Amino acid sequence: MSTQFLAPAVMPEEDDLEQSLRPRRLTEFVGQDRIKEQLAISLDAAKGRDEALDHVLLVGPPGLGKTSLAFIVREELGVGIRCVAGPALERKGDMAAILTGLERHDVLFVDEIHRLNRTIEEILYPALEDFRLDIIVGQGAAARTLTLDLPPFTLVGATTRTGLLTTPLRDRFGMTFRLEYYDPKELGTIVRRSARILDVEIAEDAADEIARRSRGTPRIANRILRRVRDVAQVKHDGVITNEVAREALQLLEVDGDGLERIDRELMKTILVKFGGGPVGLSTLAVALGEEQDTIEDVYEPYLLQLGFLQRTPRGRIITELGRERFGAGGKDTQLF
Ligand SMILES: Nc1ncnc2c1ncn2[C@@H]1O[C@H](COP(=O)(O)OP(=O)(O)OP(=O)(O)O)[C@@H](O)[C@H]1O
Ligand SMILES: [Mg+2]
Repeated sequence: MSTQFLAPAVMPEEDDLEQSLRPRRLTEFVGQDRIKEQLAISLDAAKGRDEALDHVLLVGPPGLGKTSLAFIVREELGVGIRCVAGPALERKGDMAAILTGLERHDVLFVDEIHRLNRTIEEILYPALEDFRLDIIVGQGAAARTLTLDLPPFTLVGATTRTGLLTTPLRDRFGMTFRLEYYDPKELGTIVRRSARILDVEIAEDAADEIARRSRGTPRIANRILRRVRDVAQVKHDGVITNEVAREALQLLEVDGDGLERIDRELMKTILVKFGGGPVGLSTLAVALGEEQDTIEDVYEPYLLQLGFLQRTPRGRIITELGRERFGAGGKDTQLF
């Protein structure tokens, strides 16, 4: 069993702490019950037949547990894993080298799989379908195709949106799981579990408070917990009470719905600079000084979910609810 990181860029913000908070087994993975149930059955079936697990596509906004699930799959199967980030693969040879290095039933985890380039994707098709690698040797009239057999393996792909994947690639996954935002109860469980691992005492209502303000995202819950822990340690006696949690959240400028400064800026920009919209994504990105992808994958999904924002073919529009909240006289106007 080996873990090899071929591209260090796979997990840019990954630090030891995030690693230590990551659930290792399916039973430790909180929430996403339907995914867990289906995955557990498929894992059992594959193990029972002594076959590689079908290829799995994990779809969902950042921080909901895609990488965690990929590692859980390898842990549950008791096999090795190779990790690579889609954009880090540049030449066909890179993919060929990875594929030929796989061992029987290994997991190949490709993060940001929608960012694989087309020629590399094409190498993957026969590899995924028939565990076969076609290599062209020689040039011009002398060129021949050499076929190599690969050991059966499982591709686990992660992406933020399925729409970004080409159809032939999408069709080669036996299972596609869409991760949903977590509800506050599940996030509360995650916060308590993380507090235990970090060995910090936390009051029930403080855990609930953090959970409510984590925008449905475990990574954010854990991040807030760590900041709150700092405040508890430096300014209090180390215990996280509800008062300490609220104080820290105020310091972090996280409001009651979990919205942060950048969310408010985004809403305000559309409202004030673009009259509530519609405004195109690229224009909005320039106005905010943010990457389009970040706006689309990180900030917008939650604002859409809360019903403050709408995506239309002509651009982004602030909803009535959004106007009530961020417009003149709204709850959030004082923040600007
Ligand atoms: N279901 C869960 N139960 C407990 N903790 C979780 C769960 N999902 C995620 N986490 C925590 O959140 C952190 C982030 O999750 P993970 O890295 O798997 O997200 P991701 O979907 O891969 O995000 P990205 O798209 O940014 O790569 C993990 O380190 C883990 O601590
Ligand atoms: Mg990830």
